[in-house]
Amino acid sequence: MSILVNHLTYKYNPGTPMESVALNDVSFEIGDGEFIGLIGHTGSGKSTLVQHLNGILKPTEGSVYYNGRDVFDGDYDLKELRSHVGLVFQYPEHQLFESDVFKDVCFGPLNLGLSKKEAELRAYKALKLVGIEDDFFYQSPFDLSGGQKRRVAIAGVLAMEPDVLVLDEPTAGLDPRGRDDLLDSLKTVQAETGCTVVLVSHSMEDVARYADRILVMNNGTIVYDDKPVSVFRHYDKLKEMGLGVPEITGAMYRLRAAGFNVSTDVITVDDAVNEIMAAMGHA
Ligand SMILES: Nc1ncnc2c1ncn2[C@@H]1O[C@H](COP(=O)(O)OP(=O)(O)OP(=O)(O)O)[C@@H](O)[C@H]1O
Ligand SMILES: [Mg+2]
Repeated sequence: MSILVNHLTYKYNPGTPMESVALNDVSFEIGDGEFIGLIGHTGSGKSTLVQHLNGILKPTEGSVYYNGRDVFDGDYDLKELRSHVGLVFQYPEHQLFESDVFKDVCFGPLNLGLSKKEAELRAYKALKLVGIEDDFFYQSPFDLSGGQKRRVAIAGVLAMEPDVLVLDEPTAGLDPRGRDDLLDSLKTVQAETGCTVVLVSHSMEDVARYADRILVMNNGTIVYDDKPVSVFRHYDKLKEMGLGVPEITGAMYRLRAAGFNVSTDVITVDDAVNEIMAAMGHA
């Protein structure tokens, strides 16, 4: 699996007085099995960008290639693309509509033309992957908690068994426990299915712990595309963009500024402890 976004520019309402450039000459590649964090402040273009990955929006200029084929070529089957690239919209629980959880999750695979049996098998697997227990299967999705609804909505996309799972701010509005549970289950999903994950967020804390690679967006462009530790070296610039770095990385910057000889390439509390112990001569 590979996705190539090549010089993509997107304008809302082109050619009208309302014209606005949401993406400006964006290029990057996504490889098989990556866990990518896509981060940027509000209005930076994240949602606009990810809607190009499964063909919902069409570039004003530039192209998107899936496995080497231009997905906006006239004869490309966008329905098939959407079976490979699953997009979970922001607040996806607003799109739950069936009378029970299980039916809701079966909807996607049935829509792909799979048999009832195959759809049910996939729905079962997907619900288990996101940690929804059997007791909930025949409840109305509207009776679940916010975090559970979110999981059911994600299971609906997972049941299509996409090669790429794109999630637009999946933790928005969840409490810290719900957020951690959800992100942990995404990591499990990736480990078990081998799928590629693109996680959109405006929280550095969220992406730092889970992503292997971070794309930072600002004003419709990609300003950094690197490993988390390398991205966080742009501490001052990130702050200017209103993003900052994870709390623990920031603490290491403050220690360093106060004269302690510690590395600032730190993302986890464990790394920070090791660095501080080493600086104090306890390593
Ligand atoms: N339907 C639309 N019509 C016109 N302009 C839009 C539309 N949707 C988004 N925009 C504009 O495009 C730019 C990028 O918006 P987008 O929603 O992609 O950003 P985002 O990074 O996802 O923001 P957020 O973090 O708030 O979700 C913004 O300036 C926004 O106002
Ligand atoms: Mg958005």
